[in-house]
Amino acid sequence: MNQEIKIIRSAGEMRAWALAQKGAGKTIGFVPTMGALHEGHISLMQAAASGSDCPVASIFVNPTQFAPTEDFDAYPRTFERDLEMSREAGITLIYAPTASGMYPADYSTYVTVEQVSEGLCSLTRPHFFRGVATVVTKLFNAVLPDKAYFGQKDAQQCAVIKRMVRDLDMGIEIIEMPTVREPDGLAMSSRNRYLSEADRVRALCLSRALFEAEERMRGGERCAARIVAGVCAGMAEVEIDYIALVDAETMALVDEIEGPVLLAVAAKVGAARLIDNIKFTPNP
Ligand code: PAF
Repeated sequence: MNQEIKIIRSAGEMRAWALAQKGAGKTIGFVPTMGALHEGHISLMQAAASGSDCPVASIFVNPTQFAPTEDFDAYPRTFERDLEMSREAGITLIYAPTASGMYPADYSTYVTVEQVSEGLCSLTRPHFFRGVATVVTKLFNAVLPDKAYFGQKDAQQCAVIKRMVRDLDMGIEIIEMPTVREPDGLAMSSRNRYLSEADRVRALCLSRALFEAEERMRGGERCAARIVAGVCAGMAEVEIDYIALVDAETMALVDEIEGPVLLAVAAKVGAARLIDNIKFTPNP
């Protein structure tokens, strides 16, 4: 694919472009990103390219989802490479707003999604989902997508966005795509580039522990405490943030598996905070 990629920097111009496409009867598929693209993003972009007339992605490192102590300044910014990767994946337009355009000095409106935002990542990042819900709302309002694509690796984020779209009648189809992994199981993440060689080896315990738990669940294990204890033992070599077995839709903790669940983990490995998860649905 060799077509040029268009770049738009302001919400007004983005929205005018989107309205013109819709007026011409075209559908818009949207992939929001913070750049530093990897194969996980590419799979979302390819799905948007094959599932819509106008595949659009955004690149914006969103300050409101980082606490002052987190890696906002260090977050990898690889814009030129991201443009090329997006173009190759079939994206035809990049929306890359400026921070001052998104959040002028007197900015004062935030979106809070209750319940599904609680627990898991909120335990150590209480600011995170408010920042995500706010920026995704702003991006949706500019891009006007028919469909938006998110990765299962950020499963709680997907649940928050789905709930927000439902509760606020946004009328956008949210498509959750499977986690893309390295051949050895490590979930792809922009933050994997913070890992030293030794940390990268230690980081494998997250996916390994999850896959072992999945085997136990397939084998009939239904007790959350035993499943979580097993994962905890498997992750002894990293600094665990949380291990949680929750309802796959509401993110509420479960004691016994009775329906679809999410087994999610987060851990600090060297300089990186990594998350990973699997979903499991018991046979009826
Ligand atoms: O998943 C991400 O990269 C970000 O949280 C998102 C959805 C682009 C919002 O900044």
